[in-house]
This record gives sequence, structure tokens and C-alpha cells, in this order.
Amino acid sequence: MTLADPSSFGIAGLLCWPAFQSRSPVIHNHWLAHYGIAGRYVLFPVPPERLEQAVRGLSALGLRGCNVTTPHKQAIFPLLDRVDDLARRIGAVNTVVVEPDGTLTGFNNDGNGFIQSLRDADPAWRPDSGPILVLGAGGASRAVVASLAAQGAKEIRLCNRTTDKALEIADAIGSVVKVVPWDQREDALDGIAMLANATSLGMTGKGPLPMPLDRLPAHAIVGDLIYLPPETPLLAAARARGNITVNGLGLLLNQARPAFNAWFGVMPEITPALQQAIAATF
Ligand code: ATR
Repeated sequence: MTLADPSSFGIAGLLCWPAFQSRSPVIHNHWLAHYGIAGRYVLFPVPPERLEQAVRGLSALGLRGCNVTTPHKQAIFPLLDRVDDLARRIGAVNTVVVEPDGTLTGFNNDGNGFIQSLRDADPAWRPDSGPILVLGAGGASRAVVASLAAQGAKEIRLCNRTTDKALEIADAIGSVVKVVPWDQREDALDGIAMLANATSLGMTGKGPLPMPLDRLPAHAIVGDLIYLPPETPLLAAARARGNITVNGLGLLLNQARPAFNAWFGVMPEITPALQQAIAATF
């Protein structure tokens, strides 16, 4: 029997620290039940000083793989046998696959998951539909910008309160990224096909994003990586103007699909029942 024998009980999980109320177990355990696959997705709170031991144990314990979140997304790089190009450009891994020979491969599906959720909401939009404005330059922004560039975006305007962090992303991703000063973010709305908020502004407990939308084109799709609250003030204002809007739940669901497929051999669907199961966790 190989480690990936589909008849065996499949285990995957989330390496995190500290433990938190992740929605990933709800998503993956829903799919395991739905597709009749014997297995379980569990949380593995692992302190940073034990990450190496935990990762070395993945194959020995017969796990199919794992997700990785704060604070392990960068620290895990040297512990993997290979990391795919996109995850390398993003500089963070969110998914690990234990290969049949026991070696470990790292991926990052966050940015592609976000892009897919936009395409689900507006099938007419594509990354190369027109200029894109991304606000924020943290880890989430970098995943989105790198994935947009990899999917053919022609111009990504990147705007962050701390300009140096935007310049770092532009350096890493290439000339498709044009850095815009924070105080010129309104001008940068001109002619865009997509606006994404990757700052933490608009999140429950934080102030709203100061972003007047008067110059937002009518056809532009607006995405926010935040899902708490489900509709940020930015998304509410965009929806009131008639723009199509997408919150961060779509990212969470769509990044999980290729991970589940790699671990359990089925590309799962995002059904209304799954969306209800997630909504019930709020
Ligand atoms: P993540 O990993 O989720 O991207 P992060 O790295 O903490 O989180 O990034 C938070 C983003 O929100 C950053 O772009 C941050 O801007 P700075 O790089 O200038 O810190 C942005 N952000 C947070 N609070 C902000 C505020 N009050 N005004 C403008 N931007 C803010």
C-alpha cells in the first residue's frame, strides 16, 4: 500500500499558531462527507519552535498534506522538498501536498482563489480585461498581485499607505506592477476594470477604508479580501453604485478546491449547502 492509497483513511489539517476558529475544517469535512471519502481535516496548533518536527512527521503519519497559516507561511519553505513557482514569487506557502513517495511540495492558492471568486461573480471579467487597482501591500496583497500577474494582468496599480512595501512587491513581481502614492488612490480609479481591497481597513473593529468611489467605472468589479463583516463599507458603497462586488469568503472556498483535489483526488464543488454551512459559523 502506498501512502496515497485512496482506500485508506485520509487525514489533512491546518498548521497554525495559536489555535483559532478556522473555517477550513468546515469546508473540507463537508466535502469529505459529500463525496463519501473516509477522512478528516483537523487543526494542528504547532508552536514555531516545533514546526520542523511537525512537518517532518507529515509523511510518517500518513497525512495527505496540510494547509499552513500564520506564523508558518514563510518559515516552512526550507522544510519542503519543492515549492512551486507562484508560491515562490508570493513568498509564502498555504498548501502542502505529501507526494506518494513521501516528499513535500508547497503551493499558494490564495491569489488564484480570489481571482476565481471574481470570475464566478462576473464571468465577463478576466485578469487582462483592463487596469486593476489593488490597495494594500501585506501578505494577502502580494498573493493577489502575483497571481493576477501570472494570469495575464496587463497593468496592476498598487497603492499602499507605506509606499516602500508596494515598491518591494513591484520589484518582486515585475513591471506590470505600477506603484501609486496612497494620496493618489482616487486618481488611480480612472479606467479600471477591477478594484481590490487587500488592506485590513473595513474589517470588524477597524475603521472604514477612506476611498471615494465617484470615479469608479460602472463596469468595474470590486473585491474585498475581508469576510468579516460579510459586506465592508467599501463593498456596500460599490454595490449601491451598481458595481458587482465580492467578499473574501470566495477566496477561502476557492483556495480550498485545488488543495482538496490534491489530497483526496476529487475537484470539489462550492454548492449552496456548503455556503450555508459556512454562513452558519458566523
Ligand atoms: P495581510 O497579511 O493580511 O495582508 P498585513 O501584512 O498586516 O496583513 O497588511 C495590512 C495592510 O493593511 C497593509 O497594506 C497596511 O498598510 P501599511 O503597509 O502601510 O501598514 C494596511 N493598513 C492597515 N491599517 C491601515 C490604515 N489605517 N490606513 C491605511 N492602510 C492600512
